Amino acid sequence: MILVALVYLLVGFLAFLLLLKLGISWRRSSLKKAYIKGSILVGFFHPYCNAGGGGERVLWCAVRSIQQRYPTAECIIYTGDTETTKEEIIKKAKKTFNISLLKNVEFVFLYKRGWVEAKRYPVFTLLGQSLGSIILGLEALFKFPPDVYLDTMGYAFTFPVFKYLGGCKIGCYVHYPTISTDMLGIVKDRTNAFNNRALIARSSILTSGKLLYYRLFAYIYGVAGRCAETIMVNSSWTNGHIQELWQKDLSTFKVFPPCDIGGFLELSIERQQHETLPRNVILSIAQFRPEKNHALQVKAFDRFLSECSNQEKQSYKLVMVGGCRNQGDKDRVEILTKLAEDLNISQFVEIKTNIDFSELKELLSVAIIGIHTMSNEHFGIGIVEFQAAGVIALANDSGGPKMDIVQENTGFLACDEESYAATIRNIFSMSEDDRSSIAVTARKSCDRFSEEHFETDFLNAIAILFESSDKHT
Ligand SMILES: *[C@@H]1O[C@H](CO)[C@@H](O)[C@H](O)[C@H]1NC(C)=O
Ligand SMILES: *[C@@H]1O[C@H](CO)[C@@H](O)[C@H](O)[C@H]1NC(C)=O
Ligand SMILES: *[C@@H]1O[C@H](CO)[C@@H](O)[C@H](O)[C@H]1NC(C)=O
Ligand SMILES: *[C@@H]1O[C@H](CO)[C@@H](O)[C@H](O)[C@H]1NC(C)=O
Repeated sequence: MILVALVYLLVGFLAFLLLLKLGISWRRSSLKKAYIKGSILVGFFHPYCNAGGGGERVLWCAVRSIQQRYPTAECIIYTGDTETTKEEIIKKAKKTFNISLLKNVEFVFLYKRGWVEAKRYPVFTLLGQSLGSIILGLEALFKFPPDVYLDTMGYAFTFPVFKYLGGCKIGCYVHYPTISTDMLGIVKDRTNAFNNRALIARSSILTSGKLLYYRLFAYIYGVAGRCAETIMVNSSWTNGHIQELWQKDLSTFKVFPPCDIGGFLELSIERQQHETLPRNVILSIAQFRPEKNHALQVKAFDRFLSECSNQEKQSYKLVMVGGCRNQGDKDRVEILTKLAEDLNISQFVEIKTNIDFSELKELLSVAIIGIHTMSNEHFGIGIVEFQAAGVIALANDSGGPKMDIVQENTGFLACDEESYAATIRNIFSMSEDDRSSIAVTARKSCDRFSEEHFETDFLNAIAILFESSDKHT
């Protein structure tokens, strides 16, 4: 009896899904009547499209390159920014990124964005947000079913919805995996961290429970992610994690996001003389946060100076600039100042907080070495800026700087106080010609992070979605 009821229920459910699917398909055809025959509807899922960050630069560059390459494509943006208007979003994109679209884009405003916000889910946040994104995805799909679906914010759980219910071709651009194997490690080692409360780190039962939850989540994330036909990742770091979780290496492409370095490329490779600074400047650009490891810079510089004569010392200076956002940052600046005093090198170290862009640019036109000391940084846009500006980069030998940015003849990598000091000595002892030849090579290599390069790689990665979507038209 129960079995029969279950079968009826199942058949009923399947019939419902089928009807839904037909309804969506019908809706797509009727929406298409508004466009010229043969149009391909390309939907971008970007619920926070008005944020004005690096993720949005990717979105707008992607839209523009599709408009350029596929004249019959109609771009649709699903956004939850309901408090603003289409005109304002476009105006802001133009102002923030200097990107002008070639033709009209359609905006579909979503009202269920609350479902993907972390604050709604005090526990099981990842799962809650992911299931919430399905609801948001359904709203988007019902309102405007596309032919090609592109997720540019990392909502992998929407892929199955658009693929099976919407019959769409799926592509995505991943900035950051929703769950990473690093997170599993933190729980396993019972470390107390942002994603692991002290209560859980202390208890072994809770730890096993949480581990199981993470593993299960990682598994479902993989199943959802594999619905995508083409996957773009923003860096080698993300690439590693996504390959591990989704295991679609043949359709995963590394597409570096476009970086805004135009202003630095126009600086002269030849170093300028600064009014108040000596000739040999080492520049550090990083917010005064603990993981940036500023103390290592001061110590390595001290070690380097210790081998200079008192007179030689006068021609060197370490200039540390960075944003100081709160009391914690201010305290760290105090500690650094104190460290320089203790080492008796205060007169050779200068700390500047919250400087404006023109002053930053001036320092970048003066500095010979740009120093970076953060371990396992995912990328390191600051190092790209050094390279673009003609400053020789000296970065930590790990993470993005090692995998993506500093390549042969475009800079140097170091791993501890001693190797930093030795490399500083090495760079300063090179001839000016040798240094500028490195700077020129490094500046050329920054081309990998330009808008043009992004467009080419992006279009190559998504070509497959357009080849096969002909059948819809
Ligand atoms: C904006 O982009 C145009 C071409 O796309 C370029 O000519 C212009 O210099 C850019 N403006 C700024 C401020 O970067
Ligand atoms: C990729 O995205 C993450 C998250 O936004 C960011 O931390 C990282 O710097 C990005 N990588 C690149 C190459 O911009
Ligand atoms: C501190 O440095 C100055 C000049 O760099 C030097 O003359 C002085 O002897 C140093 N003092 C100590 C205590 O090392
Ligand atoms: C730099 O990189 C090495 C690995 O190559 C690492 O052992 C070291 O701790 C890193 N960190 C810093 C701040 O230098």
